Amino acid sequence: MVIIREENAADVSAREALLDDVFGLERFEKTCERLRAGRLPANGLSLIAEINGEVVGTVRLWHVNAGGVSDALVLGPLAVAKRVHSKGIGARLMRAALNRASLAGHSSVILVGDAAYYNRFGFSASLTDGLWLPGPVERERLLALELKSGSLSRAFGLVKATGDWAEVGTLSDLVGESAEGLRKAA
Ligand SMILES: CC(C)(COP(=O)(O)OP(=O)(O)OC[C@H]1O[C@@H](n2cnc3c(N)ncnc32)[C@H](O)[C@@H]1OP(=O)(O)O)[C@@H](O)C(=O)NCCC(=O)NCCS
Repeated sequence: MVIIREENAADVSAREALLDDVFGLERFEKTCERLRAGRLPANGLSLIAEINGEVVGTVRLWHVNAGGVSDALVLGPLAVAKRVHSKGIGARLMRAALNRASLAGHSSVILVGDAAYYNRFGFSASLTDGLWLPGPVERERLLALELKSGSLSRAFGLVKATGDWAEVGTLSDLVGESAEGLRKAA
């Protein structure tokens, strides 16, 4: 049975292995990665698909300001393990993510992907005419969905990452740790 649920810390390595498998390491060169790198995803909007305890799908959404629209999100990456493609898992992840984003009050969702897949969820390139990303993107793959009708009508400009920064050790933490290590070694 497929379970769609929120991701937790124990899922991270399985999610990363799945993304490596599906996209390869080039995934870190994608323009959308510039909107995600170093940031935390939106609260409650990292989802996992699981079969018998095994992670087989992932989707996450990230806070952005989309050309002046401050409560927008960027979706991605969406990935499902090859061995379970075409069983509706991608669609379930998408619908769950979009429902949660809507319930959380977000106005719109942007992504880079194939319109032939994302049209079915209501995404369209016609909503992104006034937007650009911090890197190259094929215009026909820059898609958006309004969760609140008309929310992107005045969107114009760069899509910028606005999520909280993920916590990393500060330089003073590192210096403090090595000083402590030296003290113990002495
Ligand atoms: C895209 C993806 C997440 C879909 O997952 P899934 O669980 O197989 O999706 P669903 O079962 O909901 O839908 C499958 C249908 O979508 C179609 N589909 C999948 N990718 C598609 C694409 N890029 N363009 C058009 N249709 C696509 C399949 O052919 C299938 O059609 P069918 O139902 O007529 O057989 C999965 O194929 C995947 O991980 N692909 C590689 C990573 C990727 O491309 N991610 C999206 C970023 S653009």
